[in-house]
Amino acid sequence: MYCRKLITAVSIAAAGLSAAALTDVEIDELLSRMTLVEKVGQMVQVSSGGKSAAEAEDGSGRKIDAVLAGQIRNGEIGSLLGACGVKNFNAFQKIAVEESRLGIPLMVGHDMIHGVFTQLPIPLALSCAWDEELWCKGGELIARETPLKGANWTFTPMVDISRDPRWGRIAESAGQDALVASRMSAALVRGIQTKDVAHPIAACLKHFVGYGAAMSGRDYNEVEMSESTLRNVYLPPFAAGIDAGALTVMPAFHTFNGVPCSVNKWLLSDILRGELGFKGMTISDYNAVGECAWPDHHGVADGDESVSAMAVAAGMDQDMMGESYMKTLASAVKKGLVSEKAVDGCVRNILRVKNALGLIEKPYIDEAAAKAGVDWKADAALAREAAARSAVLLKNNGALPLKPGLKVALVGPGADDLWHTVGCWATWAENTSNPTLVDGLKADGVDFKYVKAYGFRGGKVDVAAIQSAAANADVVVACFGEQGREAGENNSRMDLSLPKVQLDAIDAIKATGKPFVAVLMNGRPLAIPELAEAADAILEAWNPGTSGGWGIADVLTGRINPSGRLTTEFPYATGQCPLYYNKTRTGRPHKDGERWTTRYIDGPYGALYPFGYGLTYTTFEYSDEKVVVDGDKLVFTAKIRNTGLREGVETVQAYTRQLVAVESRPVRELRGWKRVALAPGEESVVAIEVPLANLDYWAASRKVAASGEFEAWIAPDSTKGKKLGFSIR
Ligand code: BGC
Repeated sequence: MYCRKLITAVSIAAAGLSAAALTDVEIDELLSRMTLVEKVGQMVQVSSGGKSAAEAEDGSGRKIDAVLAGQIRNGEIGSLLGACGVKNFNAFQKIAVEESRLGIPLMVGHDMIHGVFTQLPIPLALSCAWDEELWCKGGELIARETPLKGANWTFTPMVDISRDPRWGRIAESAGQDALVASRMSAALVRGIQTKDVAHPIAACLKHFVGYGAAMSGRDYNEVEMSESTLRNVYLPPFAAGIDAGALTVMPAFHTFNGVPCSVNKWLLSDILRGELGFKGMTISDYNAVGECAWPDHHGVADGDESVSAMAVAAGMDQDMMGESYMKTLASAVKKGLVSEKAVDGCVRNILRVKNALGLIEKPYIDEAAAKAGVDWKADAALAREAAARSAVLLKNNGALPLKPGLKVALVGPGADDLWHTVGCWATWAENTSNPTLVDGLKADGVDFKYVKAYGFRGGKVDVAAIQSAAANADVVVACFGEQGREAGENNSRMDLSLPKVQLDAIDAIKATGKPFVAVLMNGRPLAIPELAEAADAILEAWNPGTSGGWGIADVLTGRINPSGRLTTEFPYATGQCPLYYNKTRTGRPHKDGERWTTRYIDGPYGALYPFGYGLTYTTFEYSDEKVVVDGDKLVFTAKIRNTGLREGVETVQAYTRQLVAVESRPVRELRGWKRVALAPGEESVVAIEVPLANLDYWAASRKVAASGEFEAWIAPDSTKGKKLGFSIR
């Protein structure tokens, strides 16, 4: 009960993340009273499910694991993995706060990747909205709903730059661009760590760093990366999240320069804390510390004791779901493999985060207060809006929006499957209504008949069912893609093309001669040249979440004009991957038809659908494009006119390219964007300001000020726009 006694002695300014209950001096005083066992305990995270069949009553009639309860009582556990329900959370917390010697509260973490009860679209989808306000609202939704599942910490956002769609975790990312990912990182952290809730929760930036560059797109695989690429591309989203106040960071599984990130002092101490100024706590990935030691794993230490010492010395504060710290850290300290001072540093970081989270004053979850903060209808409405705004219209020759009164034949897998609709990492999908596309079309009053007719993989197409459905319809709307859980962790693919059964379905639908609208639901870009050729319209709906059926129907029917833009590129073929717009230049830049320029002999050079691309149901015209240097900023302007018949939103994008630099620089880099809503015939001058300092870049460990001649574009995507120029002297 040490903490609670102490608290009565200090005056607490206010509750919430910024209101520290203990001063740093008091935290150090608490630390000085801890035994080595208690210190190590703070550095251990185990499953909230416990390990033993032996159970004890928690006082509210529920059962909790007796062994785990004992460990918490002894001060041997600092946090739990897995939301455990409010009653269990409070029961565990009671043991920690009221029965352990020092009364230090627990943190309970869970992967609320794109929602809790309400699931938003997967993060990759959400990134395609290019909207910081929406991202922040998404984070706030996670903050409101997380405590109701019995957790106060989410392992979100994942801010790994993802240039390779073979890597299944691209679904959890903001795509391939450092600026988009940085802004989404900061917005999500602001939202997740909002103070405007009954129980603030902690965010976790992961996976530090370079995990998205897993070679061959194979999860957990090695990463080879230059220091320039690390600093220019992969670090900025972490820097942005740290600046936004992220309380925790999770180092990645892989090796960086031969040293696993989990024990990499250069990354965890010099860069993360030294350069990026991170002051919170680090938590390992699942058993990642232990995996450094075992000879058939990373094998950079000869046992748990030495790996514990290495990890602590590197700057790993808490060990998730491994037993290295729990079983060996105390003996490693006693043997002098690592100093107790280093252990103190880790514990101090953990105590500071618990303190900043408000847990010292308010360790328990007040279920009624948390519930009062959630409006299920409002969260469902936000998820619906997010689903519609994340969808990207890839092709349209006029088949969309569906005209009122049309008879629709809806075919394909996933159209009536909730788990497919919500996608990866959705542990729950429990808002009051969770519509599939079938429900969404019903709600929007569409006259349709659904026959599944084919599956995702394997089996045969029921051609007769497609023919008869199409015979009675004016248009065929067909779903393609991946099963909901085919993306996400350790779901790497070696082939991004549609499985044969889906290709056969394309042929069968085309053969009906009816207008053909394709709806893609998937967690990553796919190689879909056949669909791009055959379909009259393609809407990339991603895994749109628990209101996804409504949101996608809203776009199909034209209730909402699509405005999503790709944050990742769609290849023609898997062999093009990794594929990203901001590639470094080459001495042999691609020129169609020229033999000795960079190319493939068996397919196109560029993307099928490039970064930044997306159509709407109206059209926009750009004119008077300009870029000027104005003091310490760059100002892009263009006149944008809505030349179509509907109100719509254009996402105007600003790109630059430095002509001569210390190191070869990317062909184009996104510098900013602005979304502008215009009525038919309306025009507006859009201005995008970019601080000149944002053009500075890293050449290995040297920061170089941008100077000299530049090309620039203000454009609707990364391949278009009139070439402009400017210079920085
Ligand atoms: C994943 C992390 C996740 C952790 C806890 C790991 O396997 O890589 O992203 O936060 O599990 O669920």
